[in-house]
Amino acid sequence: MTKKAVKGFSKLSKRGKIEWIANEYLENDQNCIHLLESYWHNDEKVQKIHDEFIENTISNFYIPFGIAPNFLINDEIFCVPMAIEESSVVAAAAKSATFWMERGGFKAEVISTTKIGHVHFAWYGEYTTLVEFFNSIKNKFYEGTQELTANMRARGGGIKDIQLVNKSDLEPNYYQIMAKFETCEAMGANFINSLLEEFSKILQRELESSTLPDSDKKILIIMCILSNYTPECIVRSEVSCPIDQLTEGTDLSAKEFAKKFEQAVHVARIEPYRATTHNKGIFNGIDAVVIATGNDFRAIEACGHTYASRNGSYSSLTDVEITNDIFKFWIEIPLALGTVGGLTSLHPMVKFAHQLLGNPDSKQLMKVIASAGLAQNFGAIRSLVTTGIQKGHMKMHLLNILNQLGASENERVQIKSFFENKVVSHQAVVNRFCEIRGITQNDLTKN
Ligand code: MEV
Repeated sequence: MTKKAVKGFSKLSKRGKIEWIANEYLENDQNCIHLLESYWHNDEKVQKIHDEFIENTISNFYIPFGIAPNFLINDEIFCVPMAIEESSVVAAAAKSATFWMERGGFKAEVISTTKIGHVHFAWYGEYTTLVEFFNSIKNKFYEGTQELTANMRARGGGIKDIQLVNKSDLEPNYYQIMAKFETCEAMGANFINSLLEEFSKILQRELESSTLPDSDKKILIIMCILSNYTPECIVRSEVSCPIDQLTEGTDLSAKEFAKKFEQAVHVARIEPYRATTHNKGIFNGIDAVVIATGNDFRAIEACGHTYASRNGSYSSLTDVEITNDIFKFWIEIPLALGTVGGLTSLHPMVKFAHQLLGNPDSKQLMKVIASAGLAQNFGAIRSLVTTGIQKGHMKMHLLNILNQLGASENERVQIKSFFENKVVSHQAVVNRFCEIRGITQNDLTKN
């Protein structure tokens, strides 16, 4: 069947959109309509908030919201909210948090909180002329944006620096106004972008009214946008303990474990293939808390990966050191987060997540999230260098397999108990399920 294109879809009501999709794409399947409606919140007001987050909302998409308790960070205990679908992530975070709680916890500090944005423009005169002109009007960028920055300045933030950057060796006629900002409790995207757009207008206006020759008045504003790369908005979190406290309950001695762990981190520092997976595991922890607290995980990830490449080759975001029998493991990562604005005051679950964390300020949230990433990475490496990752992962994944098979409560209990001390694999679970139900695998595919 050829599907129809549509004009004015966004103008249809929610029901109208669903009906249109059902007619055009789903052969009017009523089950699909019921499914979409069954995911609507039963409080209409709450649903309306969700509807209005984006355009063309037709339903909600759930992912689990879990808790990793026992995060001891700078001597304060946190229950960390995590929104994530991957089965073993919360379990691993909780296990690592408890492990480190018993060994002094996480020591976290915010190193810097500066955000950056650019006016990207093309200009066609001599660079020295541009420098002189820029310096002569630099104050106008501050003066001309007083109103826009007033609230932020009252809160201790605002514009920290404005510079002209010459990029014309990379792209003909390409220059930037690079500005740095302190955005306090806000992630700051709207504040920064509004200022950058104003800077571009000031630049154009000042050029136009200058005494420069007409040829030097020609400018093309390419774009004005914050950078999600924030290498000056950095948090560090660290755990440490004497090596002999690293007992693992595996065949490895504490010393062997520490050494193998160190080697695993070194591999991730020098080998981009491993570094990518290593950092993915870190972002399992980071993204889950970033999402739960209503921040932008795409921005956080993009920034983290750029930071991981800052020395010319993609590398690990965590590092390890063993000196004088002390094991030290840390993460240093840029995290541009907000605790006001965006979803933080709108999404009821996000508000709950902030409340659970004690309504942290943005620096505190940076420390919690960096610690969640470090905990996740510790848990992953610990499994990788001891039991292998599949043992813990598949144990958690067992429930998903049982759900896929449609196991009854009684079958679930029997199968979970059967795998208590065995390695879980998809096939082994299917075999056991068929055995208990008295069916063959062929019968499964028929259903
Ligand atoms: C899986 O989601 C994440 C890991 O692969 C991370 C890692 O290998 O470090 C387990």
